[in-house]
This record gives sequence, structure tokens and C-alpha cells, in this order.
Amino acid sequence: MMFAREDRLVRWNIYLGLIALALGTALGPLQALQYAKVNLYGVLSPLIRSYYQGLTLHGVLNALVWTTFFIMGFSIFVTVRMLNRPLHNPGIAWAGFWVMVAGVILAAYAILTHRASVLYTFYLPPAGAPDLLPGRDAVGGGDVDHLG
Ligand code: HEM
Repeated sequence: MMFAREDRLVRWNIYLGLIALALGTALGPLQALQYAKVNLYGVLSPLIRSYYQGLTLHGVLNALVWTTFFIMGFSIFVTVRMLNRPLHNPGIAWAGFWVMVAGVILAAYAILTHRASVLYTFYLPPAGAPDLLPGRDAVGGGDVDHLG
């Protein structure tokens, strides 16, 4: 059985995940350099203005965005092949994908405007901007029922 329709969703999930991993990983050396007393955050200002803002992006992009999108793409890829049947409701699967994208945009906006440099665990009580937590929940919630 061919899964061209499902694979399009798989590809989009994995592409976005890889973009997040590339951006997130690019910030890693900056953190390591900071420990060597080389501060490159000034070069990235006003996009990234401080160590903790960069570290928040590093953690969120690498530990949350990359992993969640990759898991979604991988699970759809494996599940349809394992069951040898297409997605029952691709519309719901795509809706979940777009909720995740909206969540990333919302959280990215909060972090990039330097109002949510709270690191990727978002420990409670929430210290970040009000748009950070709905953003995170949309990324997490968007993958529920994805295989609907
Ligand atoms: C060139 C590659 C990388 C370098 C040099 C690097 C460096 C660092 C450093 C120095 C820290 C510690 C920051 C601190 O506690 O002050 C850190 C934190 C972290 N790194 Fe990386 N990293 C790299 C790639 C990655 C990758 C590929 C992932 C995951 C896919 C990752 C996930 C994390 C996470 C989750 C944290 C904790 C963030 C937090 O406490 O909020 N890193 N990294």
C-alpha cells in the first residue's frame, strides 16, 4: 500500500523538527563559549539579548519542538505501515499539526520578545509572558488524536 498522503504530513513534521533542531543546536556553542568568558550574544542582539533567553530557545527548540514534531512524523510513518491502512481522518491529523505550528509561533513570540526567558521546563508558577504557556500547551495538545 502507498501512503503518499500520509507521507506529506510525515515530511512536514520532520522538516519542521529538523529546522528547530538546527536552530536550537546553533545556539549550543554560544552557551559553551559563554562559560569560556566569550560573550557572543551582543552580535545576535536584538534577536537574542541574553544568555538565558538563548538557553530558553536552545532548550525549547531542541528538547520540545524537535522531539515533538519528530515523534509525530515518525509515529504516523510507522503506524500506517504497521497497520497497513491509511489515516482514518487526515483532516484531524493536519488540524493537530497546525495547532502545533500555532503553538510554536506563540511561544517563539513570547521568547523572542524577551518576556519568557524561563528555560524550557517552564516551571510553575509561570514566570513567563501569558502567551508562553498557551503556546506550549498547543504544541503538546496538537498531537493528541493526531492519528484520528
Ligand atoms: C553543538 C551542540 C551543543 C552544544 C555546544 C550545547 C551546549 C549546551 C550547554 C553549554 C548547555 C548548558 C547551559 C547551562 O545550563 O548553563 C546546554 C543546555 C541544554 N542543551 Fe545543549 N548543546 C548542544 C546541542 C544540544 C542538542 C542537540 C540538544 C537536544 C536535542 C540539546 C539540549 C539541551 C537542553 C535540553 C539543555 C537544557 C536547557 C535548559 O536548562 O533550559 N543541546 N547545551
